[in-house]
Amino acid sequence: MIQDETIPNNVNLSEDRRLHRALETWQPNFHQWWAEMGPSDFLKDQIYLRTAVSVEPSGWAHFDYVKMPDYRWGIFLAPSLPDKKIGFGDYAGNPVWHEIPGELRNWLRRIVVTQGDTEPASVEQQRRLGHSAPSLYDLRNLFQVNVEEGRHLWAMVYLLHRYFGRDGREEADELLRRRSGNPDKPRILGAFNQPIDNWLDFYMFTMFTDRDGKYQLIALSESGFDPLARTTKFMLTEEAHHMFVGETGIQRIVQRTCELMKQDPNEDARRQGGLDLPTIQKYINFWYSVSADLFGGEISTNAANYFGASLKGRDREAGRSEHSAREETYRIFVVEDGKLVERDVPLRNAMNEVLRDSYIDDCQRACDRWNRVIERASISFRLTLPSRRFNRAVGLYSELRFEPDGTPIPPEDWQRRRSQWLPDDSDREYVRSLMNPVYQPGKIAGWIAPPERGINGKPFDFEYVIFVP
Ligand SMILES: [Fe+2]
Ligand SMILES: [Fe+2]
Repeated sequence: MIQDETIPNNVNLSEDRRLHRALETWQPNFHQWWAEMGPSDFLKDQIYLRTAVSVEPSGWAHFDYVKMPDYRWGIFLAPSLPDKKIGFGDYAGNPVWHEIPGELRNWLRRIVVTQGDTEPASVEQQRRLGHSAPSLYDLRNLFQVNVEEGRHLWAMVYLLHRYFGRDGREEADELLRRRSGNPDKPRILGAFNQPIDNWLDFYMFTMFTDRDGKYQLIALSESGFDPLARTTKFMLTEEAHHMFVGETGIQRIVQRTCELMKQDPNEDARRQGGLDLPTIQKYINFWYSVSADLFGGEISTNAANYFGASLKGRDREAGRSEHSAREETYRIFVVEDGKLVERDVPLRNAMNEVLRDSYIDDCQRACDRWNRVIERASISFRLTLPSRRFNRAVGLYSELRFEPDGTPIPPEDWQRRRSQWLPDDSDREYVRSLMNPVYQPGKIAGWIAPPERGINGKPFDFEYVIFVP
């Protein structure tokens, strides 16, 4: 473990005086941003948090009580491998780059800034959730996700400061100036400008939207620009917990819903103070579709450029037989004259869709798990993921309207039926009515089941947050 006085890191920061000074200048601005835009309140409280202290698989994380403003946000890159070669694109087989090739600089900066912008954005979106957590365990998990998104911001800011010179420093400052939902200075991507003010949305966000992040990081961890590959590789170890929070959060809700249905003569979970399965389905439809948008258009020149330039790869690139994607094609439904027709497009142009495929498989695996809970309760309802064409605002399918099963429908029908498929005001109102904080150790709100186990081997009734008056 290499620790620095002020910024924990494994990148020899103390030996690079200029970089160290630049980051030390940025650091107070980060702390000020955290105070203004991080979790509202709870700044004096002791939270049982995991802190990254190294990249050793045997023990990269340290658990202890920390006040969030004292969290030690650090810079950690996965180890560099000797003789590492680029795994895909036009530069496949060449040694990886340790500095940025001049001609790829603008594309790379755009990739780093876009990824970097999502990290603080999600903290801003979630800043009020601490006031309504269903348990101390969940409250702690929220803050864990928040501080780690803060660390991911540090990871991207390190790359900007270290490799992009003056414009990198300006971009790093801008990352703290944009604000989620601010009409004058919004965050870059649409889904990151919506506030997340209830816990159903939070689990959906960590399940579906953070999982887009996971696949973006996977694609970048293949990058020929090795510092980007190594930093995203380590970010993925933290990201796994965020996915866990979302997936198990929804599973715990489903479980509780089934219990409540069994207690009610009409299997009415709402009457028993819980969430009903059709409402959960609507929230899945919403978050899955807005998150699918984050992968970008189905046919994309940017995606082809990034892949060709060996900057952004595919999921499990090493396991594929061909790495240039120059000759292959990809079959896709496109919209022509208002109709869906199958077309073959050059594979490089379909890289967003290829990544979305991996994402969809991963989401389906989680959905199958939720359904096993429902099945075990002998309830016939099944949750489903909507078609990738449903409710899209980006890409080919944003031109038409589709039912959840992917069938095209006229816009009038969509308007008439959308509240069957997506949460409407009354659903949101009902969800909001359930959001009351439960902050005694071992207690939990009535609409969600407790987790199977606690954090770091601790029991569920452990005091994950100690409130300091
Ligand atoms: Fe992140
Ligand atoms: Fe995350």
